[in-house]
Amino acid sequence: MKIVMIGTGYVGLVSGACFADARHEVVGVDRDAGKIDRLHHGEIPIHEPGLDALVAANVAAGRLTFTTELAEALPGAEAIFLAVGTPTRGEDGHADLSYVFSAVDELAGGMTDYAVIVSKSTVPVGTGDRIEERIRQRRPDLAFDVASSPEFLREGSAIADFANPDRIVVGTGSERAAAILRAVYQPIARDGAPILFMSRRSAELTKYAANAFLATKITFINEIADFCEKVGADVDDVSRAVGLDPRIGGRFLQAGPGYGGSCFPKDTLALLRNGEAFGSTLQIVETVVSVNERRKRQMVNRIVDACGGSVAGRRIALLGVTFKPNTDDMRESPSIPIARQLGELGARLSAYDPVGRARAMQLPAFAAVDWHDDPLAAIDGADAAVIITEWDEFRHLDLAAMAARMAQPLLIDLRNVFRPDAAAAAGLTYLSIGRPRAAPAGADLADGPDGMVSIPHRAPASA
Ligand code: UDX
Repeated sequence: MKIVMIGTGYVGLVSGACFADARHEVVGVDRDAGKIDRLHHGEIPIHEPGLDALVAANVAAGRLTFTTELAEALPGAEAIFLAVGTPTRGEDGHADLSYVFSAVDELAGGMTDYAVIVSKSTVPVGTGDRIEERIRQRRPDLAFDVASSPEFLREGSAIADFANPDRIVVGTGSERAAAILRAVYQPIARDGAPILFMSRRSAELTKYAANAFLATKITFINEIADFCEKVGADVDDVSRAVGLDPRIGGRFLQAGPGYGGSCFPKDTLALLRNGEAFGSTLQIVETVVSVNERRKRQMVNRIVDACGGSVAGRRIALLGVTFKPNTDDMRESPSIPIARQLGELGARLSAYDPVGRARAMQLPAFAAVDWHDDPLAAIDGADAAVIITEWDEFRHLDLAAMAARMAQPLLIDLRNVFRPDAAAAAGLTYLSIGRPRAAPAGADLADGPDGMVSIPHRAPASA
């Protein structure tokens, strides 16, 4: 079947490549001529494991092509997917649908035969109705359907998520559209993933509800982690034990510095605004949004407290800056407020991230950061190291070597990568999330006022 994929961002490029791999004929369309040009040269504009090989193989097989010209792509297409961005609009939290509507207007101008237009972009409930109205007004002659089929893939594991989904959601009231989409998804659903057919509005809401629930789960365990710290409990033990109850489930119960990324922050906000527009209050989601925002801003307090109340003039190494591992995406990363505030407080920042550097360097928060090509170089002479992203390679760091190279052997681990006893045994004073603090034998790790930790600092090296 011929498929047109409008948008070659994360969702569009991964979905397009995976559909092509499932033996469909896919044309990826993007207005950004530079992006299409790079794709023609085999360059993948995003960092996603396995995507370059998948794109290359399907381009070579002739099943995947790219163009800037929608009109050229349309003839013969039975399914046209919208996979354009729906970022937050200004400060009001609404989803910005201008990319969606401009693609729709172009479609209305260019379509000649029946096709089903499918929104893969995450859009507010009711957007499918607006798309349909818009096309019908412009093209009363045209036969078409508008469906919703949200995408649930995660950055960093996007190909596996797309190819082995837990479920495929299709929202349409049209038999014709349902038959086309069944054929589109059949090769992917072969391994047992159910295709759930439902109304368009239910499909649109499913995506927001799923993201809001996952954001709630993370925020819930983060609050429990704070409580663990107060009472000397260990959030990793609590999370594991709680998560083994299948009614709860263990995934997305990892405490950390607060969720970030291109989806959860924008989609939870958009859901709130979408609810308001229909007179529905979503109080839990509202709380999740504000608790998470506050958490990301407050992470810096932990660092300042651990440094004895001031970071002015201190050298602090940031390990990992992307919003999660296996991506170069910096959107809404907790590292941004951390770097900005540490800079404002007078800290001297060094940093290491396996792939995030290029994007981070473009952000004002990282303007004065001293970047390094390996983690040990970044922590050399530092007064504190902060793990913000749990890149796998950090798990193999030699903790004793770290302790030896730092001016003050203080590790603040916002992702609970290490075991506190192992860090302490290596000579590090170690603070993590929701777990008891740990320090080398003989070190005085007394609680200061207001729960502040007094870290035993090494005497400054003599000049
Ligand atoms: C998310 C959804 O998972 C995906 O289904 C949807 O299609 C897009 O949004 P993504 O943003 O790529 O995917 O990343 P995800 O792995 O969900 O992580 C989001 C944020 O939550 C990250 O900042 C991550 O560090 C944080 N997180 C995740 C936690 O803090 N704890 C967890 O247990 C899981």
